[in-house]
Amino acid sequence: MINSGEKIELRQLADKLEETNDLSDSEFASVLLCDDPEFDEYLSGKARNVREKYYGKDVYLRGLIEFTNYCRNNCYYCGIRKSNKNIERYRLSEEEILSCCRRGYELGFRTFVLQGGEDPYYTDAVMVQLIREIKKRHPDCAVTLSIGEREKESYRKLFEAGADRYLLRHETADAKHYEMLHPETMSYKNRIQCLEDLKEIGYQVGCGMMVGSPGQDTMNLVKDLRFLQKIRPEMVGIGPFIPHHDTIFAGCRAGSAELTTRLLSVIRLMLPDVLLPATTALGSVDAFGREKGILAGANVVMPNLSPREVRKKYLLYDNKICIGDDAAACIGCMSARVSKTGYQLIVSRGDHVRFKRTE
Ligand code: 5AD
Ligand code: FES
Repeated sequence: MINSGEKIELRQLADKLEETNDLSDSEFASVLLCDDPEFDEYLSGKARNVREKYYGKDVYLRGLIEFTNYCRNNCYYCGIRKSNKNIERYRLSEEEILSCCRRGYELGFRTFVLQGGEDPYYTDAVMVQLIREIKKRHPDCAVTLSIGEREKESYRKLFEAGADRYLLRHETADAKHYEMLHPETMSYKNRIQCLEDLKEIGYQVGCGMMVGSPGQDTMNLVKDLRFLQKIRPEMVGIGPFIPHHDTIFAGCRAGSAELTTRLLSVIRLMLPDVLLPATTALGSVDAFGREKGILAGANVVMPNLSPREVRKKYLLYDNKICIGDDAAACIGCMSARVSKTGYQLIVSRGDHVRFKRTE
């Protein structure tokens, strides 16, 4: 329990964060550690005001197409890691991906997020052809890639083919912690280099971390916040860590919805115009996680556009929601959920304000 003096102090920290977009490390830590529903309400109220200043009541939609679950990596936390022999692997053909986009377009999606494992089948040539074809058929749509670490030249080719945005979570901004979550074939240094390359090429970039991943403490999260301040991404994707039964972290606890939503509010106050999704992982640890995320300052949702048959094969973690529903059911459900929060889903590319086109 915290006493009333501490409550006043914490509220002053929230006020300071709103005014200056910053706090000291120990102040950030106090905010993250404060497990008090009244304080969370105060903090999220501020985050909502700030999001409304930039985005009004609009919630942007992104259609997620999980096009391959092959992966050459072995991230310790991830269900589709290469050495997991207990899953059935799949790849979607160009035709199948284009048909997801067509369906998505009819349903009001104007951003397609192509997400997959690091699958060598999708060479630059294959991706370039696919991106060009999507942009040709849907010139008013944005294409976002989320296909992991590649060479800078590769990122450049995909950008020139028409890709607008790239999501690559940094996962944790602490190199030691990064090593705990990844095998030695991967490095924090390379991850950050990739993000810098993507920015330099001109992508709208999304990074982000898992909340409550094994070995994470509050100071790790403060480091994540400092990293976000430095890199200034257009989007920050965060979601709770959720254990997957076929990984070494099977027995670990999931990250909490409360800490995730508190972080969403803190990030909204720190980077006022950033795009912030209320993620599927947040909806998976709490039946109303995505609604709580929106009420904490999130302004993006990313329903699944993947064909129904493959959804249950793209399980990065256990208890994932929406794996039995088709795209139309998901959008209907999502639209109802968003409306209940007092916000509204809109048909738009939903660019970051820095990238808004003037036409
Ligand atoms: N729990 C929560 N999120 C996960 N991701 C991967 N595995 C898990 C898990 N077990 C997230 C990572 C990755 C994104 C695509 O999914 O942050 O970047
Ligand atoms: Fe997919 Fe609710 S958003 S079923």
